[in-house]
Amino acid sequence: MARRNKIYEGKAKILYEGPEPGTYVQYFKDDATAFNAEKKATIEGKGVLNNRLSEFFMTGLTNVGVPNHFIKRLNMREQLIRQVEIIPLEVIVRNFAAGSMAKRLGMEEGTQLPRPIIEFSYKDDKLGDPLVPEEYIIAFGWATQQDMDDIVALALRVNDFLAGVMYGVGIKLVDFKIEIGRVWDNDYMRLIVADEISPDSCRLWDIETGQKLDKDVFRRDLGNLADAYTEVARRLGVLPTNVTHATKPTLIN
Ligand SMILES: Nc1ncnc2c1ncn2[C@@H]1O[C@H](COP(=O)(O)OP(=O)(O)OP(=O)(O)O)[C@@H](O)[C@H]1O
Ligand SMILES: [Mg+2]
Repeated sequence: MARRNKIYEGKAKILYEGPEPGTYVQYFKDDATAFNAEKKATIEGKGVLNNRLSEFFMTGLTNVGVPNHFIKRLNMREQLIRQVEIIPLEVIVRNFAAGSMAKRLGMEEGTQLPRPIIEFSYKDDKLGDPLVPEEYIIAFGWATQQDMDDIVALALRVNDFLAGVMYGVGIKLVDFKIEIGRVWDNDYMRLIVADEISPDSCRLWDIETGQKLDKDVFRRDLGNLADAYTEVARRLGVLPTNVTHATKPTLIN
């Protein structure tokens, strides 16, 4: 079998050249990293779960009219996506204070925010993805004012969709991060949701117990990460209800 052309290997995923121009194959690894890769581990089954969960959320977004890069799942670990030109920003949406925001402002984690707050960090691992004001983004030409208006609108639509889906299965969407990319249809440029949506990029708390079901389980050594992600997948109906062994998830179509 011919080796596929590897485009990029990141911390959690690998991008390969896709079968058609303008497509990539996105492979989900089992690697987990935190604190800008200072902490690393391999969590068996994580890639399979995130591939399936990202498919679930992206398909849902498509169904409510939010454009995104997902085309189709290829197998347990790979999905076909539309190639985009990534805007070098992490777009973070917060509904409740947690993580760096809680720390920065001395707020108790879980404090409800007066409205969803969107913040941006500049994607640069060497700099530790620093928080940047919109002023920098526009002045340095990473995105235009029109792009920023579109990005905020997209991020809020993703937030409403994800928060509702999660609420339906007893989970609070505390915050999440997305990446946005540009695509061209002839001369017409559009911004679409790219990268992934998974418990790696969200904070998800059980509404009843407050139990964390996201990457904080790994960051803060709170237990088995694959078990937490399996629970999210099980509640969403992505896995059958009788899965007990997190390291060997059984996928349903
Ligand atoms: N549709 C897409 N087209 C092009 N690039 C994409 C697309 N979706 C995601 N990417 C990029 O693919 C890479 C995915 O790999 P991964 O998430 O493992 O990277 P990472 O280690 O987080 O590093 P970084 O995000 O800083 O590049 C990211 O760089 C992401 O920006
Ligand atoms: Mg990434």
